[in-house]
Amino acid sequence: MSKFFTHKFMFILMLCFVGIFGLIYYFVSYVDETNTGVSLKPDEKDIVLLGKNVYLKNCASCHGKNLEGQLNWRQRDAEGYLPAPPHDKDGHTWHHPDEYLFSMTKYGIEKMIGEEYQNKMPAYETILSDEEIIATLSYIKSTWPPQIQRQHDRMNKRAIMNRKQE
Ligand code: HEC
Repeated sequence: MSKFFTHKFMFILMLCFVGIFGLIYYFVSYVDETNTGVSLKPDEKDIVLLGKNVYLKNCASCHGKNLEGQLNWRQRDAEGYLPAPPHDKDGHTWHHPDEYLFSMTKYGIEKMIGEEYQNKMPAYETILSDEEIIATLSYIKSTWPPQIQRQHDRMNKRAIMNRKQE
């Protein structure tokens, strides 16, 4: 083999290494990202139990003791307010990823959408700790049928991927 080819070979070998390390770095940072941020824990009994208590004290008065929501929850009342939606499988809570549900509960709807919006959903920033909010939402998720929980898991993964592409 001539000297030229040896150099070329070394160069290609180096490129391969850079490529492989790049891929490893990509996957490691991807895994990191799924572990940070807010993630609901519907399979952890202690968290779900805490969440149930917080839910019954803070949310059930509007969203219902059995997460059934208020009557005619899709229709605005005479003053233009929407009633509280259910958090069970019939509502659209499970259509939203973990982080959205968390921010919505913590900061309220107006901060989430960044504009004025007449609504009765309180913001819990000064009332509940982050752990209590995550526990409450974990409790809510734990009541969904398994296939809806799995669907919600998949949606969370998609939301994280989309965030990476932004
Ligand atoms: C005073 C009544 C009231 C209480 C108490 C309340 N909510 Fe709400 N919540 C609402 C209303 C009303 C809406 C719908 C607002 C709208 O879209 O106009 C809502 C919407 C939501 C949504 C968005 C659902 C979706 O599908 O977009 C989440 C999540 C939520 N509430 C969580 C909670 C949690 C968790 C608690 C307890 C910590 C709680 N809420 C307590 C009235 C309430």
